[in-house]
Amino acid sequence: MAQEYRLIFKNIDVAGYTPDIECYLRNGGYESLKKALATAPKVAGEKTISPQEQIREDVKVSGLRGRGGAGFSCGLKWSFVDRKSGKPIYLICNADESEPGTFKDKQIIYKDPHQMLEGMIIACYANDVHLAYIYIRGEFVEGAKILNRALKEARAKNFLGQNILGSGYSLDIWIHRGAGAYICGEETGLIESLEGKRAYPRIKPPYFPAVLGLYMCPTIVNNVETLCAVKHIVAMGGAEYAKLGTPNNTGTRIVSISGHVRKPGYYEIEVGKATIGQLINDPEFGGGLRDGRKLKAVVPGGSSAKVFKAGEKFKLKRKGPDGKDTEQELDMLDLPYDFDSLIAAGSMSGSGAIIVLDDSTDIVEALSNIAEFYAHESCGQCTPCREGSLWMAKALNRLTHGQGRKQDADYLVRIADNIPGGRTICAFGEACSWPVQSFVGKFKDEFVARGATDEERRAAAGRNLEPASKEMSTVAVHG
Ligand SMILES: Cc1cc2nc3c(=O)[nH]c(=O)nc-3n(C[C@H](O)[C@H](O)[C@H](O)COP(=O)(O)O)c2cc1C
Ligand code: SF4
Repeated sequence: MAQEYRLIFKNIDVAGYTPDIECYLRNGGYESLKKALATAPKVAGEKTISPQEQIREDVKVSGLRGRGGAGFSCGLKWSFVDRKSGKPIYLICNADESEPGTFKDKQIIYKDPHQMLEGMIIACYANDVHLAYIYIRGEFVEGAKILNRALKEARAKNFLGQNILGSGYSLDIWIHRGAGAYICGEETGLIESLEGKRAYPRIKPPYFPAVLGLYMCPTIVNNVETLCAVKHIVAMGGAEYAKLGTPNNTGTRIVSISGHVRKPGYYEIEVGKATIGQLINDPEFGGGLRDGRKLKAVVPGGSSAKVFKAGEKFKLKRKGPDGKDTEQELDMLDLPYDFDSLIAAGSMSGSGAIIVLDDSTDIVEALSNIAEFYAHESCGQCTPCREGSLWMAKALNRLTHGQGRKQDADYLVRIADNIPGGRTICAFGEACSWPVQSFVGKFKDEFVARGATDEERRAAAGRNLEPASKEMSTVAVHG
């Protein structure tokens, strides 16, 4: 049976555990930082490997993949940092956490802020950063207060500031409260916003943050949970950390489970050691569906992840007991919750947010809700994204307001297919088209039936089959 494995969440929600520094110190806090700062240079043949290089190598060895959405190797990202530019290197902790369905970073910030700070300070030390920022979503007012208090406490104990613990290393961290928009979580939009501008994502190339980031200097952007993992990698060693989880999907990850389950909440697992079915149904996790309902669909990685339909089967290459790759057919519920299996099944684990939809769900309504969010949040720089997200939301709004057409299903997919594929500046283009492509692709009959019913009703009432432009303009979408 799959079990929770609490590494980052070890102390969270434990009775008596508080976010203040004294409590953190009583529970072994800042020991990883002390270990990192005490690391001696290593001589290997004719080469001397600096403590910073050793930590960076350990993070590579750990196999840690970013927990913010893309699942990109943290060690590799750090290795891209331009260390020869002569410019300062910045680090930004991405605490925007805006992907619908995701609520894990908040828990860390509210309940164990020093763990995040410790991870950040170590990551900064390892990357020769002397000024770092926490970019926190504007609406997280309490979170910003808690972090400000934690920063003050850390400075008072000299875990931050000049000559940290007598090591000669100096660092300060500032909090920047975000503008309260989903696009502020996209790393280059975030950087623009941090510079005081509208959060318009930058085009890559050339604006890869590792080379041309904040103030056109090399910059590392990492998610809250990723930075917490760094603290544990230093504590246990990269090779030990890599033993947690499964090959290429190492460590632990926090899964936010929401929707139609008995026990919505956040659960930490070893990556790939629990299946989607176990996360939904086991008493240790989601506890199953409510009131004898049947499963209809699962959105496995935040609202932009492609939806899985109950009963869907996937052919996946998996390692057999002899170590050889064999192809296996797996039900959606039997997919291990890891980065690679979900990508192989055509979706993604994204921000680690599982949204469960039972058979009481109106799938057209559900997609309309998601599409309205994306239409509202598109920054508007790229025509396919700005116009596409708006017209998808309008078509779905008409389907949910009795004004649908039979051909709306095809119309929606046609728009969605024309947004991604290198036509937009950032990954939001994909993020807004994937839900439409997958919901309509997998539940097409429900979309067609809704349009057909609307057409019949309008025909019976002697009204035009085409919705009048006046009806279209009443759509409650703010594009
Ligand atoms: C539209 C959009 C929104 C995003 N929102 C967030 C967010 O709220 N938090 C986050 O950590 N990453 C978010 N990301 C991913 C970041 O761009 C970036 O990849 C991430 O912060 C890198 O951290 P990691 O490597 O530790 O995962 C978003 C990406 C996109 C395209
Ligand atoms: S893809 Fe969308 S959100 Fe991203 S830059 Fe273009 S318009 Fe803005």
